[in-house]
Amino acid sequence: MRNVVVADSAGFCFGVKRAVEIVEKQIEESSNQPIYTYGPIIHNEIVVSEFEANGVRVIEEDMPLNDIEPGIVIIRSHGVSRSVVEDLKAHGFEIVDATCPFVLKIHKLVQEFDEKGYRIIIVGNPSHPEVCGIIGWIPSGQYYCISTVEEFDALNLPKDKIIGIVSQTTFNYDKFQELVEMIRQKGYDICAKNTICSATEERQKEAVRISQKSEAMIVIGGKSSSNSRKLFEICQENCKNTYFIQTKDDLDLSVLQSIDDVGITAGASTPKKIIEEVQEKCQN
Ligand code: F3S
Repeated sequence: MRNVVVADSAGFCFGVKRAVEIVEKQIEESSNQPIYTYGPIIHNEIVVSEFEANGVRVIEEDMPLNDIEPGIVIIRSHGVSRSVVEDLKAHGFEIVDATCPFVLKIHKLVQEFDEKGYRIIIVGNPSHPEVCGIIGWIPSGQYYCISTVEEFDALNLPKDKIIGIVSQTTFNYDKFQELVEMIRQKGYDICAKNTICSATEERQKEAVRISQKSEAMIVIGGKSSSNSRKLFEICQENCKNTYFIQTKDDLDLSVLQSIDDVGITAGASTPKKIIEEVQEKCQN
């Protein structure tokens, strides 16, 4: 039988588990009010459609709120900007906040940096919903978003102010440390807060350990899950036979034909059941 190692850290992180439980609780306690999530509650189509079957509808960002019957809106773990919260309230929606506490911490930090007059740098992807949410808590609206030292250099920032640096929670831990160190070495006065969540860091480190020892590596995650994509990149650096799948159905067993050692990891929005199904398929 093939040796299959599943990462202990694979699957729902604390914030995603909490958000999913909050939705389940709202369904259970449901009065006659409609229940919505602001955007899909997690990056997993299967979980989202199960909730939809229980009457939970998704409010997409571009939907005009005037056309939607007010009800309970659950804010997902990525968080949203202050203006979104205010807009929802102004349209009569009741907010149930499932923003991950680690993300809430970044919202507070950028507000503090802004109040102190720091120049704010967010390390991450500017189009990711978490980063869009963070940006929306900077009162002045002044910030820079980068992910490489080249992008930092291109900004040509003067050295007249302290630079306050935070990171998207799912950014690569080593790359963040490296980037901060490079900025420091350029002579900038910085206040850097490593806001990468420990779940991501642990998941990434475990992915490195397992992929270094495996002949093939399987990363399970939703198509639009950024933390799953990052896991895929990390595993690919150590194991050329790395495959990104959403469910067991995407796994082509022929690629594992002559392979004895397979490693599995999964992004933060992957339910346990899907991981177990993939594990079982690999073993057999
Ligand atoms: Fe929160 Fe970290 Fe998960 S920030 S949503 S516990 S990946």
